[in-house]
Amino acid sequence: MLESPLIFESWNSRKGKSMEFGSVSRRRFLQTASLFSLSSLSAASSTYQLVGTEEIEVTQHTVRLKNLPRVFDGLKLVHLTDIHHSKFVSLNEVLRMVELSNQQDPDVVLLTGDYITWSKKFISPVGEALGNLKSRFGVYAVLGNHDVRVNADQVAQALKKAHIEVLRNASARIDLRGEGLWIAGVDEYMYGESDIPAAMMEIPRLQPRILLAHNPEIIGEAARHQIDFVLAGHTHGGQVRIPYMRSINVVTQPGREVLEGFVSNGRTQMYISRGLGKVVVPLRILCPPEIPVFYLRA
Ligand SMILES: [Fe+2]
Repeated sequence: MLESPLIFESWNSRKGKSMEFGSVSRRRFLQTASLFSLSSLSAASSTYQLVGTEEIEVTQHTVRLKNLPRVFDGLKLVHLTDIHHSKFVSLNEVLRMVELSNQQDPDVVLLTGDYITWSKKFISPVGEALGNLKSRFGVYAVLGNHDVRVNADQVAQALKKAHIEVLRNASARIDLRGEGLWIAGVDEYMYGESDIPAAMMEIPRLQPRILLAHNPEIIGEAARHQIDFVLAGHTHGGQVRIPYMRSINVVTQPGREVLEGFVSNGRTQMYISRGLGKVVVPLRILCPPEIPVFYLRA
């Protein structure tokens, strides 16, 4: 039933770096009961047919950005994260995610990592599936901890082959009527070499600073570098939320209290998506997969 013996490792903190949320704007999750045991997870997964068929929720958000060039006012960003193509997430499910993204008629599609879980054999198929993503101004991606641990270069290559721009401590400029909007991306925070200054290097001083980052723990560093808006994933929103029990993430990392939604630190606002896939157990409970859509406003 378990995909890997490294059950909770993907949620462990990077040594010496801690979550630094300045203010929390979302509800906190129930943290009142005992830990999951493997037997309870196993029992829960037997109800997969009942709870695992939750539809993807498309959520809509407005994000105000200082210095956003007028021409980009109303720009629509569609965010997909933690797809985790694996034996728990079929290719058909990935294609359904792509279809839903395309239905949003995005201006820009942003991907924040974990395309696979533990096996290389899923890299090429997920890359091909993501090659069907439609977007007016391109698809931009960063890698997640699972991608890095399996094979970062191979995942990046599969995405590039699908005409997706992979931002590993780099940025890209979207041009519209002579104006530019920059999207930056950092390498993975726990297992890669994330470098915000390198990612921001080419962005002119007065431009909005948008950052793709897999792991939300980067928010403290992002705030220090005056990033305006960070899109992140990694938490899966807890993935398994059984009433009166802690979610998997909170169990493994008691300091992590915010698993989804908007958070802020200074002038930096960040959105943590619940993501789309599943790890550890092949189900989500009371935590539907999510595709957030952001409308940028000046
Ligand atoms: Fe993930």
